[in-house]
Amino acid sequence: MLKNSLPLLNEFRARFGTSASLYRAPGRVNLIGEHTDYNDGFVLPAAIEFYCSVAAAPRTDRKLVIRSENFNETVEGNLDALSGIGKNHWSSYPLGVAWAIEASGKKLKGANFLIRGDIPLGAGLSSSAAIEVATGFALLEQSGLPIDLKDLAQVCQKAENEFVGARVGIMDQFVSCHGRASHALVLDCRSLEYHLVKLPPGVRLVICNSMVKHEIGASQYNVRRAECEQGVRILRDVLPGIRALRDVKLAQLEEHRGLLSPKVYSRCHHVVTENGRVQSAVHAFESGDLRGFGRLMSDSHRSLRDDYEVSSEELDLLVEIAVAQPGVIGARMTGGGFGGCTINLVESSAVAAFQQHVAGSYFARTGRKPEIYVSPAADGVQRLEVGLGNTRD
Ligand code: GLA
Repeated sequence: MLKNSLPLLNEFRARFGTSASLYRAPGRVNLIGEHTDYNDGFVLPAAIEFYCSVAAAPRTDRKLVIRSENFNETVEGNLDALSGIGKNHWSSYPLGVAWAIEASGKKLKGANFLIRGDIPLGAGLSSSAAIEVATGFALLEQSGLPIDLKDLAQVCQKAENEFVGARVGIMDQFVSCHGRASHALVLDCRSLEYHLVKLPPGVRLVICNSMVKHEIGASQYNVRRAECEQGVRILRDVLPGIRALRDVKLAQLEEHRGLLSPKVYSRCHHVVTENGRVQSAVHAFESGDLRGFGRLMSDSHRSLRDDYEVSSEELDLLVEIAVAQPGVIGARMTGGGFGGCTINLVESSAVAAFQQHVAGSYFARTGRKPEIYVSPAADGVQRLEVGLGNTRD
């Protein structure tokens, strides 16, 4: 990464005429715990070695000048007039983060940004969270403000919820802030307490990109959230203490099933059982029970396919092909769904054959070439220290 970072700083100097500091934030995969974060539940994601990198330098005025290399476009904003909801444009993420930080009562300085990302866009690997976290971290540091990573994750979520208009949970921003090399992260999305779980040696994270992004994804995400909220509202009549599906036990859900429409019951069933699976998966990981972990991944995929209805034919096929390969511990869709990627835990010695066979079979059945990425678990957001003369004047 450092090798690639010098050209970004050189490019920054050529464009803005000054030196800059360099920041980066990672994308993520989620091992298990899908659509549980906005139900106050549990998740087990890991940051990956795909990043959004930002070269940044302060300005003397209150302007933000943001250049995206990926989109070959420059956008300007004014910190005194940041507003707008639902702007479907890459710049709404950094501008939204600036808006959310200022809304929290902090005073930012203007800045010049040059942004470059290598996280596949629209693939469910959290390129949005990475650009939010990288630019948020850079904005705070360039303004001389203290950085609390929990606050940063929350402010980035607020930007996405209220400025961009996507009602996402906290998982992606949190792991982009707190990820750790060689570890997955168990997060309680209600208390934001977390701990790191070391990934077993000899196992690799292999991500298969179906190369299909279903357009209905964004709107259906909000529909699923609304269905979960409806379930809570109805169940609250008979379970007065509950605040979210996190508080509902499976036996309680079964007892009161008759109150819910079949669809709302299925959505609640996924969330309640998925929370249980995360707890079991953490236990399986910590006790070295990889087979048990793999079974939970399969159960999670089935639940997302049948109860939550967020999988797709292509994701189902990728999982079906994957689990038939030697050395595969588990496979499931990862992220919001409706396309995007699967996550596969694969024994290191089997990775090369896995890549070849999965790519070949998927192509034979769909005519699409999947992209397959093998990534170690990565560290969260950071400022990169680069060679003398490259960071600061
Ligand atoms: C997207 C959202 C997350 C989470 C997942 C599903 O990635 O950004 O907050 O809800 O979907 O688990």
